Amino acid sequence: MTGERVGLAFLGAGTVGAPTIEETVRLASSENLEIRGVLVRDLSKQRAFDLPVTTDFEQIINDPDVKIVVSLLGDESVEHPYILEALRRGKFVVTANKEIIAKGAPQLFSEAQNHQVGLLFEAAAAGGIQVVDNLINRYSHNTFSSFAGIVNGTTNHMLTEMAKGKDYQTALQEAQEAGFAEPDPTNDVEGYDARYKLSIIASLAFKNYISPDQIHVEGITGLEVGDFEYASRLGYVIKLIAFARKVDGELELWVAPALAPTDHPLAKINGSLNGLFFDANPIGSFTLQGRGAGGGPTASAVLSDILSARDHILNQSTPRAVNLSEPLTVKPFDRVRNRHFIRMVMSEDPGTLSKVSGVLGNCGVGIHAVEQEEDKTDGKVAECVFTTHESEEGQIRAMVEEISRSDISAQVKSVLRILPK
Ligand SMILES: NC(=O)c1ccc[n+]([C@@H]2O[C@H](COP(=O)([O-])OP(=O)(O)OC[C@H]3O[C@@H](n4cnc5c(N)ncnc54)[C@H](OP(=O)(O)O)[C@@H]3O)[C@@H](O)[C@H]2O)c1
Repeated sequence: MTGERVGLAFLGAGTVGAPTIEETVRLASSENLEIRGVLVRDLSKQRAFDLPVTTDFEQIINDPDVKIVVSLLGDESVEHPYILEALRRGKFVVTANKEIIAKGAPQLFSEAQNHQVGLLFEAAAAGGIQVVDNLINRYSHNTFSSFAGIVNGTTNHMLTEMAKGKDYQTALQEAQEAGFAEPDPTNDVEGYDARYKLSIIASLAFKNYISPDQIHVEGITGLEVGDFEYASRLGYVIKLIAFARKVDGELELWVAPALAPTDHPLAKINGSLNGLFFDANPIGSFTLQGRGAGGGPTASAVLSDILSARDHILNQSTPRAVNLSEPLTVKPFDRVRNRHFIRMVMSEDPGTLSKVSGVLGNCGVGIHAVEQEEDKTDGKVAECVFTTHESEEGQIRAMVEEISRSDISAQVKSVLRILPK
């Protein structure tokens, strides 16, 4: 390629920024790019590149030759105003920040449109899989009916190890030692990271803005070895699932650990891989899989956005506007219907199991099967799992509350959803 070079600047040179800068340097001349500067926090750090580095955002934003701002800071409070400012100054913005896109998509898209520039965010959700561009530009004529995804590599790595018999603390510690989990793993293990990604993917698929706080979230911290043992015995694996389904004009949305039948496409997504399972018309059901995060896959996604922004700038065009105009509402979580796996411990007293079954029945929860482990406590405590027919989440919540309020000597240890086949 020969011709006019397009100037860009990076905000951030960390886990994602450094490999992206390295690749951009390598491709700059052949791809008609010119890196004008890099914003960092600490000027004294050694960098693997020889480019102008600054801590002053004004220096970057005031450079008229910077046409693309690549924002890879990860600090929402600083990055959000920087992105807004860049759009308002007529610059294309590329970002990997899922929190900023998930929380602020409508405002940011309209700023981009008003200033006739593009906001590109492939790396913000399952970056290595290129789902964002595909949903906006390739699948958008389809009508989506459901999505189930494994979108957090850290927790999928941990759950894969827990399925081999490790407990939560061991799986977390090993993931931290191997660099898969952050020292503070809250965002991953509590499901917040997956919730941001579901907000982005579901908004694009269902063409309606879904803010993260409209999505019910449960993490994996309460899972115990017994959940994996029973799940396996019943023919399931446990995955942290980001789920969305359209039912009669309403969206059901949740992130929670759930059971996938062993023949479900997501059951085979192991380790730090991501997997996205969609159902849409006319395309039918399909699965995308690959590395969602990590320096390399994320850098690849950012770079594809940089090249796309460059093309638009050279062609004086803007990316296709994201359609968020479908008239859909989010169903209150209590009315969302699922099948459930309910693990309980209860006294072996005659009649306890029938009392528990009675509470389930009174709450409208239909029992599909009961699996009970042979008692190992000399007739004192039994552990059993109920799998249920579909019922409303509100009925399940009422059942758990009723059992804990009652004098029945039983305790609900876990309630997990069962993915539809
Ligand atoms: N890591 C992944 O696998 C991954 C995957 C998908 C998306 N993302 C997203 O990518 C973004 C970047 O993540 P990361 O893992 O690369 O973060 P990181 O390793 O912590 O790097 C952050 C970079 O930004 C700079 N920085 C931070 N705050 C700054 C400030 N206030 N002013 C100037 N510079 C500042 C840091 O400067 P110094 O170098 O001087 O400290 C560093 O270079 C985040 O939004 C993250 O959610 C990451």
